[in-house]
Amino acid sequence: MADLNQKARDQWGSKVGFILAAIGSAIGLGNIWRFSYMAYANGGGAFLIPYFFALLTAGIPLLILEFGFGHKMRGSAPLSFARFDKKWEWLGWFSSIISFAIVVYYVVIVAWGVSYFAYSFNLGWGENPETFFYNSYLGITDISEGFVFGGFSLNVLIPIIIVWVLNYVIVMSGVKSGIEKASKIFMPILAIICVIIVIRGITLEGSIEGIKHYLTPNFAALKDYKVWMAAYGQIFFTLSLGMAIMITYSSYLPKKTDIVNSAFITSFANCGFSFLLGLGVFGILGYMAGQLGVPIDEVAKSGIGLAFIVFPKAISLMPMAEFVGIVFFLCLILAGLSSSISLVEAFTSSLIDKFEMPRRKAVTIVSGLGLLISMIFATGSGLYILDIVDNFLNNFGLVAVGMLEAIVLGYMMKAQVIKDHVNSISDFRVGKWWDVSIKFITPLILLYMFVQKIRDEIIAPYGAPDYSRGLVAVLGYAVIIAIIVLSFVFSNVKWRDEATYVSQGNAREVK
Ligand code: ALA
Repeated sequence: MADLNQKARDQWGSKVGFILAAIGSAIGLGNIWRFSYMAYANGGGAFLIPYFFALLTAGIPLLILEFGFGHKMRGSAPLSFARFDKKWEWLGWFSSIISFAIVVYYVVIVAWGVSYFAYSFNLGWGENPETFFYNSYLGITDISEGFVFGGFSLNVLIPIIIVWVLNYVIVMSGVKSGIEKASKIFMPILAIICVIIVIRGITLEGSIEGIKHYLTPNFAALKDYKVWMAAYGQIFFTLSLGMAIMITYSSYLPKKTDIVNSAFITSFANCGFSFLLGLGVFGILGYMAGQLGVPIDEVAKSGIGLAFIVFPKAISLMPMAEFVGIVFFLCLILAGLSSSISLVEAFTSSLIDKFEMPRRKAVTIVSGLGLLISMIFATGSGLYILDIVDNFLNNFGLVAVGMLEAIVLGYMMKAQVIKDHVNSISDFRVGKWWDVSIKFITPLILLYMFVQKIRDEIIAPYGAPDYSRGLVAVLGYAVIIAIIVLSFVFSNVKWRDEATYVSQGNAREVK
């Protein structure tokens, strides 16, 4: 394709800056709490087999696809899709609005991290971190009595504001002076912290029991389709795929760059981080089980609880508890922040491209609106809302985007077009395996996951009996439908300048 009639576009200062920002987006909350409990809940060491299989068969190929597409089209997700074919612009909006929907609750978890960072200085969660988290900190409502919003918890609201301000300042400062600079500071610190946590975790008394749990494969688990689905879902989330981010980030690269190499570095750095941190996390769980004289199964809880209930408990038992708490929650904050800025950037750059808004205005709208919506999560029912929205966006929203991306770009645009583009600029060229993954493996697996999840949802609605069907309908299905409708609305709005998306590739679209 000839040069796109390109307006001045932000650019990374260096390739290293781009890779650090992409790794920063990938490494996030997903690597800290999600990976560990996924591995734990899905066969321990055996989970690593489908995890790396999913990385190679879908994660890396899709990352190359997203990097290649964004780089070729030089636009945010809606602009890139519009440049390919105006009728698919909505898919770009779908993914970038999902990003926005994710970030409004993602910052809330980072905000909890900020509070817990502060509590670490005097182990403020006290003797009973569970009661502390639910009651004193969140002020949670009793869902068994029916859904009520509940009052605001200032403990949660204030850090939410802080995290939004940080996002605002970084994204507003631009691609090079904001996101790249922040990633260059955050990533090395994060690497050092990861090493500290791993060394601390594996040198604790009894840690070996936890690590055995983590690394001993339970091969029977491999026969369970749910384990495979969990692995694909985790790879998707952890590599920030389907969130419009990687398309946007690669659109800021110079013409001459190495896409394949960058995708491999980003993926391996991210998954290596998860794997190593997992050693530290399970080491700590092993230690805790030993101290309390209970089996590991009883200390390891899934999800959010692992970071905000089990960890504070474990930290309090350790030597130099305050220091460990500070380091652990700093890790969560830095990893979370470098991902949340990427989520904010994905939606912001879509607005900048479509409406030709100055960056400052676009970031102000995104952050202002984002903060308003995030405030809902500071109410007593925030945790329930977060849980339902997160489940639906991940299991249906992201899976749908990934599937459509593979089909639209693999068949309609033709995988070969992106492959040729990527191979013409990369040292390491992709071969047939890549086409097979994009055209067959990825869409088929994602389709299977999508259908299974719908089936599971019909058989056993999410969170029943705590969550009523009405609640799940509003926060789950209605949110997804609203995002789809909004995507079509945005894509039907006239471009401020139609010439922005018109290129030789789609000139037929505009008379
Ligand atoms: N990739 C980011 C994470 O894992 C969104 O948290």
